[in-house]
Amino acid sequence: MLKQYRAVIHASELLTGEGIRAKSGRHVVEADLGRISDGAIVYSVRMSDGIEVPDQVVWVGATGALPAEYRSIPTRDLEGKRAVIPGLIDCHTHLVFAGNRADEFALRCGGATYEEIALMGGGINSSVRATRAASIEELEALACERLREAWSFGVRALEIKSGYGLSLEAELKVLEVIPRLRKKFPQMTLTATFLGAHAFPPDQSREDYLQDIIERMLPEVARRGLADTCDVFIDAGYYTVEEGRKILTAAKALGLKTKVHADELANTESSTLAAELGCLSADHLLKISDAGIAALAKSETVAVCLPATAFYLKAPHAPARKLLDAGARVALSTDFNPGTSMTLNLPLVLTMGALYLGMSRAELLASVTYTAARALGLEARKGSLVAGMDADFTVLPFSTFEETYYRFGWAPPHD
Ligand code: NIG
Ligand code: FE
Repeated sequence: MLKQYRAVIHASELLTGEGIRAKSGRHVVEADLGRISDGAIVYSVRMSDGIEVPDQVVWVGATGALPAEYRSIPTRDLEGKRAVIPGLIDCHTHLVFAGNRADEFALRCGGATYEEIALMGGGINSSVRATRAASIEELEALACERLREAWSFGVRALEIKSGYGLSLEAELKVLEVIPRLRKKFPQMTLTATFLGAHAFPPDQSREDYLQDIIERMLPEVARRGLADTCDVFIDAGYYTVEEGRKILTAAKALGLKTKVHADELANTESSTLAAELGCLSADHLLKISDAGIAALAKSETVAVCLPATAFYLKAPHAPARKLLDAGARVALSTDFNPGTSMTLNLPLVLTMGALYLGMSRAELLASVTYTAARALGLEARKGSLVAGMDADFTVLPFSTFEETYYRFGWAPPHD
């Protein structure tokens, strides 16, 4: 079949992110945005489950320079009113869970801490109870609604962690939702991360569960191809650095990529472990030490900051500026989850990055495109609008990128 092409023309600005990619996301500056005024993009499309989806970027440039052969293909004219950027990537979410924890939110508003609520049997284990009780269809329906919302915020690729099952059977049920979602949302890229080591289940001893993760769960998840990455919540009251090292080493031996929920509630030097093990990312970092910052800066491991979580927990923000200045790559993400960040609003996370993390326009764009792609191991195909790469792009409801985080709390659909 002949290739089908589509074009978008007269974008008020088109940011390719080409320079960010060329610098592999370190020390990015304004000139790295690859800004094209009155921009155009030509891309090929393919059919997937009966839906036409963008395939590859074919050409990018100024509308006036559009090659003649693309002048009669189906074209969308943005009339100079809307900007185009690489599709947003939300590289850290806990999208699949049942129930909600509005009751705990009320307790926290009354002064209780996240740790106190967890000790009372709430926290992650309260979502585990609801998720275990839900059918796969119920979990799928909830996740579908959430994905539609993420799409409208401009998100084109999103990571999904398990971790509210905490038994072989329940973790598999949660992960099995993801291939179902891929069928319903062929226009989005969904990566799957096994986070069996999110907490300790109430009905098993710590030793038994650890053994289960390493000997039963990881091999089964890998055998069924249900996850490409393994994550561990290494923190005070959760997994120790040594337990994390064992789990992540076992995951690597099975061919999985790795990540760490690191230095969030307390400093455990888990960021240093992530760098040492060559993890894709170390996430949270609210309590990272200077040694951890130095370790990430000289590693390939992306520092993922989650300012919506710090906001929601009323905790001091991660030292993103120090990380960036030291040469680390910083991605931003929502950390969407029922306990510590009940939002899918990635543009709002950019507002927080601008205000509280001191990030520049170029650093902000990189953090939710190229660098977020790196945190998922997808940077060869995604995160920049360059010919030959995936045609994931977001048409902003505004004429400049900065308006998307200048406006906060609500946004018209990003399509
Ligand atoms: O990323 N830090 C660990 N996990 C989640 C919180 C999970 C929950 O409270 O349900 C997070 O913040
Ligand atoms: Fe998380």
